[in-house]
Amino acid sequence: MRITNDQVAVITGGASGIGYGLAEALAGRGVRLVISDIREEGLEKAKVSLTAAGAEVTAVVADVGDAASVRALADRTVAAYGRVDLVCNNAGVVSPPAPLWEQEARVWELMIGVKVLGVVHGVNAFAPLFIEQGTGHFLNTASSGGLAPLPYLTPYTTTMHAVVGLTETLDLELKRVAPALGATVLCPGLVDTPLGQNSAALGAIDLRAGVPAAMQDAAARFGEKLSPREVAESALAAVEAGRVHAAPGGDVAERAQARVEALLADIARG
Ligand SMILES: NC(=O)c1ccc[n+]([C@@H]2O[C@H](COP(=O)([O-])OP(=O)(O)OC[C@H]3O[C@@H](n4cnc5c(N)ncnc54)[C@H](O)[C@@H]3O)[C@@H](O)[C@H]2O)c1
Repeated sequence: MRITNDQVAVITGGASGIGYGLAEALAGRGVRLVISDIREEGLEKAKVSLTAAGAEVTAVVADVGDAASVRALADRTVAAYGRVDLVCNNAGVVSPPAPLWEQEARVWELMIGVKVLGVVHGVNAFAPLFIEQGTGHFLNTASSGGLAPLPYLTPYTTTMHAVVGLTETLDLELKRVAPALGATVLCPGLVDTPLGQNSAALGAIDLRAGVPAAMQDAAARFGEKLSPREVAESALAAVEAGRVHAAPGGDVAERAQARVEALLADIARG
């Protein structure tokens, strides 16, 4: 989908990090924005700085884990602008680092509720509008953890794999309805955002004892962090090229390749 200045984009998790980077990049292309987040204060700050930079912004507090809240977000979008072209299902939290057998049930419920059902709610609320218009694109944020394993983060990794599979399938389903519909999944490596602090503020992880060693290890292994704006530009380039995957980050291709090669080798052995 070409991104043009007569369009409208919705961004969940738009108060911070990658969502905010997407808002800046889309505003730079003249796109009108609906930014949404569960953290009201952060959302207001984001709206003020985007507006100061010249963007046209509507801010809507919504919890992506709640279907009614996301339907209300779609209603507010239509009331504000009468259309929607790009929906970025991006909101997310990270899970605490521990082996799978030590992960608590409430962590699984939160991760599945926010990351998987959050995307499902976004698709259910906005796909009918896209289908009515005959155009529209979903950009769903997953992670490089959706393309290859990330030890000690199974609730996170599981939901990210789900968002990859969901988006690949959604793209095929949308294309069968109309060729100008589609979906892209964003799978970045490590990005410089306050994901840990925001996840702690939302009760998903506990940072009182400092950043856990497993997270520091991951940060050291994956090297240089990307900026949210770099990630946003890479995602929008993929949307414009009609690509189903955007995977910025130096290490991502090698990790995905290692997984795919191991998978194909196992399949070949029967
Ligand atoms: N930071 C990274 O290294 C990285 C790498 C790959 C993928 N991601 C993914 O990118 C997405 C954005 O994360 P980020 O790194 O920009 O972090 P971030 O914390 O800066 O942004 C995430 C935003 O989502 C919001 N949010 C959380 N739960 C919500 C809910 N239930 N409803 C609505 N909003 C909610 C938070 O308040 C926050 O503003 C996440 O899904 C994350 O898993 C992050």
